[in-house]
Amino acid sequence: MATNSIKLSLIFLLTIFITSKAILHDQLKETNMTLYFQDWSGGPNATVLQITGHQDHGILSFAKFGSVFVTDDPITQAFDKNSAEIARAQGIYVTSALDGKISHVLISIIFTNNEYKGSTLEIQGASPQFERVREVAIVGGTGKFRLARGYATFETIHFDLAIHYVVIQCNVTILHY
Ligand SMILES: *[C@@H]1O[C@H](CO)[C@@H](O)[C@H](O)[C@H]1NC(C)=O
Ligand SMILES: *[C@@H]1O[C@H](CO)[C@@H](O)[C@H](O)[C@H]1NC(C)=O
Ligand SMILES: *[C@@H]1O[C@H](CO)[C@@H](O)[C@H](O)[C@H]1NC(C)=O
Repeated sequence: MATNSIKLSLIFLLTIFITSKAILHDQLKETNMTLYFQDWSGGPNATVLQITGHQDHGILSFAKFGSVFVTDDPITQAFDKNSAEIARAQGIYVTSALDGKISHVLISIIFTNNEYKGSTLEIQGASPQFERVREVAIVGGTGKFRLARGYATFETIHFDLAIHYVVIQCNVTILHY
């Protein structure tokens, strides 16, 4: 009796833990987007703060190994900072190369627009932060972007050093269901 119920519970365990099905490749969708990160690294409405490491007269030390930053940038659908906000870019990044050239980026894109509200994309990887174009992996997503994978390119297309303001154009290419 005891042996039988052990066998039964083993079978039950197997049925609940091993469920799989073939996924058709053609169910995958490819989505491209161009997003604009509105980024202020200083001033009264800064969207980036340095949380460890020394600042030099209010200038954040992006090139210093070990510096950690937290960010909450508005993402707009066009270059103009007054264009519609469609998402936020929230996360942290750490200058992770001894020579200061690489930033390890951990950023969530949290959509707020009608089409994708509540869905997110996760960006993670090594960003060669002083190159013109930086490419970082997209390692996952939620909501409309469940099981997403892909890549994002970042290019700083405008800067105004006096007010610590830059606009970063981010092109996203993802495969998702
Ligand atoms: C998305 O962009 C990539 C890279 O530029 C391109 O190869 C692909 O055809 C585009 N896909 C769509 C659906 O526009
Ligand atoms: C900062 O934000 C406040 C509130 O939105 C705004 O009134 C002010 O003009 C902003 N300051 C700058 C320098 O952008
Ligand atoms: C990003 O996409 C825009 C068009 O939406 C294009 O002009 C730009 O060259 C692309 N940037 C990169 C780095 O591919």
